[in-house]
Parts: sequence; structure tokens; C-alpha cells
Amino acid sequence: MRLEGQKAAGFFPTPPGITADLIRQLSPNPNTAVIDPCCGSGDALRAIRAFLKGKSWGIELEEGRAKASSKGNTHVRHGDALEHSAEGFSMLFLNPPYDDGPNERLEKSFLRQYATSLVQDGLLVFIIPEYVLADCTPILTRRFRRMQAFRFPKEHYGAHQQIAVFGLRNEDDANRIPQKAIRVFDWDKRDSYQLPNADNPHIGRQGVSDAVMLKQAGSGPLWRAIWHQTKPVDLTIRPLMPLREGHVAMLVATGRMNGVVVEHRDAQGETERYIVRGSVEKTILTRYEPHVKVETEKFVAVLNALNLKTGEITTIK
Ligand SMILES: C[S@@+](CC[C@H](N)C(=O)[O-])C[C@H]1O[C@@H](n2cnc3c(N)ncnc32)[C@H](O)[C@@H]1O
Repeated sequence: MRLEGQKAAGFFPTPPGITADLIRQLSPNPNTAVIDPCCGSGDALRAIRAFLKGKSWGIELEEGRAKASSKGNTHVRHGDALEHSAEGFSMLFLNPPYDDGPNERLEKSFLRQYATSLVQDGLLVFIIPEYVLADCTPILTRRFRRMQAFRFPKEHYGAHQQIAVFGLRNEDDANRIPQKAIRVFDWDKRDSYQLPNADNPHIGRQGVSDAVMLKQAGSGPLWRAIWHQTKPVDLTIRPLMPLREGHVAMLVATGRMNGVVVEHRDAQGETERYIVRGSVEKTILTRYEPHVKVETEKFVAVLNALNLKTGEITTIK
């Protein structure tokens, strides 16, 4: 479904009674941050935040609803959540549009994009039609632990056959074997949760940031495959003069070094291999002269290096 269709047809707000039940499973903590990447007019998010007494971030595609959502929530963006990424949150409240996307169900695309927005032990509340659960189960059981699913009570279940899926983020997910099925229970005897503190929660534009991408690559099985398949790149162009620091910075900044595999011998004589990726960050420097404030832009080359053995990322500015 195209974006226009998604925002017109996909607005199924969480019934207030369901939100109230969910809130009863939580405890207030002013150091929490909740994210709702498809926040509609923000009612559910607002109620959760008001109870927790922490902060709330929302994204909404439809302009009118995004505007309505900014009342009573701390940060709201009008835009396509699939073009954003997020990190550092205590709770992910995800009630996405129920529909087919270009390659897969949209519920699955939103889950994939936002599963890593939580800190360790952060709580996922994922509201979806029951028939989509099987499709989402591999991502759910790999990224989260203590998975539980509950069917909405009868008076609410009819329209879209919704269930609420709960799980706690398990950042150590590299070797987790996804389960085949998650059992769905009736809407009672749900667990209580103590949310962890947020850790510098933020939303980034344009897909996954370099740091998140490298972090995910380092924690997934992919890096092991890369380890076996990559060889140090043979630089075929030899500069006439040795490269100075500034030249290297230029190569990094223009992306010429992206994907280059470099080797480094540590103090014990062990060889460590890194994939590097460069980018440029703009910073504004401010100075005050008599009666004027002068701002100058400065561009800084940033190099991220992913250690192929440990999965650690080093950032050099
Ligand atoms: C099922 S409603 C959920 C609303 C709210 N989270 C709640 O639970 O009450 C889904 C919302 O997602 C919005 N939406 C659809 N596609 C989106 C996208 N790509 N990015 C952000 N929001 C989107 C729709 O406009 C709609 O308001």
C-alpha cells in the first residue's frame, strides 16, 4: 500500500480501556522514555507518559494527527517512521498500520526497524492482528525474551482480531535461535513490568545511522560471514608522496575508504581486522565579538571502525 493509503486507512487507535489495562502493568519512573513510531493522534502515548511521568517520542505520517499528538507528548515528528531509526528507549509502544507492504507485511517492517530502539530489558508492547503473529515470530523471539501474547478482550477483538505482544529487549541476540511459535492467551494474568531508565533516547532521520548499522552488523551472524570472505583491499593507486593526515581525512570524508578492511597488530602480536566507514559531521562554532555573535560552520571527518573479531565499534573524529 502506498503512503497515502497507509495514513488514510491505517488509523486504528488503541481503545482507551486497553491502554488503561496496559498502564496497570507498569510503575511510574521519571527516567523513562517511550516511543510510539505510529502514534496517530497520540492518545495512547500521552496516557502512558502521563502515568510513567517520563518522556515520550512519537512519529506520525498524517499531518493533522501528528499535530494533535504534539499536545501532551514531549517530542513528535511528522513523517514516515520507516525512514527514521531510534535508540535508547525504555518502552516501545508499536501499533503499526495493518497491511501488506511492498515486500512484506508492514507490521513486520516496523518491528524490524524499531526492535533495536530499546535499551537492554526495555519493554515492547506490539499491537497487531493475531494472523500476523506467525510472520513476526522469528524477529520477536530473536530480539526479545519473556515473550507473551494476549488476545484483546471480546468486546475489542472482533474488528481487527488484535493481540498485544509483550517482550523484553535482549541486546545479546547474536546467537539466539528464533522460536517457531508464540502461544496466545486470553486477556488476563498479564505480567507487571519495571521499565529500565532510558539512555540518551533519540530518533535519527534517513534509516539506520552509521553507528546503529555497524552495531547491528557487529552483533549479528553476518559479521562472521564477512570475516571469512573479506581480504584486505589492495590499493592499486599509489600516491606519489606519503599521505598526510589531511589527505587521509579527505579520503574518509568522501567515502573513498568505506568498506576497506584494515589490519592492526595488537600488543600481543594478534592481528585484528576492521571494516571502516567514513562520514562528515557539521558543527557550528560560536564566538562573540563586540555587539555581534559570529557562527562558523566546521566540517569534521568521522571514521567508524568495526572490529570483525569482537564486533566493537571505534569512532575517531
Ligand atoms: C493503528 S494506528 C495506531 C495509532 C496509535 N499508535 C494508537 O495505538 O492509538 C497506526 C497509525 O500509523 C500511522 N502510519 C501509517 N504509516 C506510517 C508511517 N510510515 N510512519 C508513521 N506513521 C504511520 C497511521 O497514520 C495511523 O495513525
